[in-house]
Amino acid sequence: MKILVTGGTGYIGSHTVVELQQKGYEVIIVDNLSNSNINVLSNIEKITGIHPEFEEFDLIDPKRTSEFFKKHYDIKAIIHFAAYKAVGESVENPLMYYGNNLYSLVNILKGMKENEIENFVFSSSCTVYGQPDELPVSEKAPIKKAMSPYGNTKQISEEIITDTIHSKSQKLNAILLRYFNPIGAHETALIGELPLGVPNNLMPFITQTAIGIREQLKVFGDDYQTPDGTAIRDYIHVVDLAKAHVVAVERLVAEKCLKKPEIFNLGTGNGYSVLEVINSFEKVTGEKLNYKIVGRRPGDITKVWANPEFAEKVLGWKAEKGLDEMTFSAWKWEKAITKIK
Ligand code: UD1
Repeated sequence: MKILVTGGTGYIGSHTVVELQQKGYEVIIVDNLSNSNINVLSNIEKITGIHPEFEEFDLIDPKRTSEFFKKHYDIKAIIHFAAYKAVGESVENPLMYYGNNLYSLVNILKGMKENEIENFVFSSSCTVYGQPDELPVSEKAPIKKAMSPYGNTKQISEEIITDTIHSKSQKLNAILLRYFNPIGAHETALIGELPLGVPNNLMPFITQTAIGIREQLKVFGDDYQTPDGTAIRDYIHVVDLAKAHVVAVERLVAEKCLKKPEIFNLGTGNGYSVLEVINSFEKVTGEKLNYKIVGRRPGDITKVWANPEFAEKVLGWKAEKGLDEMTFSAWKWEKAITKIK
């Protein structure tokens, strides 16, 4: 069975390609390499023994996207990762985010219609919940007004997919996966997160600081209403997250027709504070991290963690790796890429 993975050379995409190939699926990747590196393909091959088929182009190009689908009419399912994801950048340049994240989605859905491809897995985010009223947050929690254009593209994308299903204009089965905070890297340290420039996210900033690329980590705020005052998130190992995509695709293909999109939280159900992540990192690596507490980062919420029960019940999927394994694998990866540089 052939599966299209858009954004398959990216962080979560590459780990998902590995899991799919290891389960025997044929994968074709489309990526414009705007935030990833072509060498990821050969590193995937080092892990799985298979060089994934790859086409480099921009899914915001309708003609090119339509031609691609005509050529690859045998695709059975699509996992759509390709999107911009930096919150701050989206505030500075909203049209870049709306243009990229939404046009590409529309072009793919049109290509699916033209070629009668029915199965679609979409990368969404827990950002759609904002600061939830109840924790852990379940999929039934209300969608709050997005705090950034990036978050809004995820909300609008979910609506575009839902409207397309309801319209019955095409046969579409979709699963929306709402990720919490993916961190860590593959155990081989052959693939992982490759931030361009200064990382926005916590984990790559920690590892880059520990290895000496950044001087000091800033901990954004210690005056939150949490036990140690720093903000709490549900960090999930990227390999656990990747595995959820395989079972999501399998469910779509097996069920044939879901009347509405199914939505799953992908988290561990555990919340950790920024200081707890730092402590885990220092403990498992033996490195001392240079950090200081500064003011809050605008737009950050206080705390969020998932109720992951629905994914376990319906998909039979559960995150297995704990925080120490996540921080250890992130460090192993940082050391591996620094050696290459
Ligand atoms: C954000 C987005 C999320 C998106 C993800 C990936 C929101 C609310 N969240 O997650 O949707 O999918 O990025 O891009 O829009 N921190 C520091 N110092 C740093 C970096 C981070 O203290 O240098 C803290 C943050 O304040 C936060 C935690 O670490 O409390 C995690 O931050 P980060 O990794 O950026 O993820 P989120 O903001 O949770």
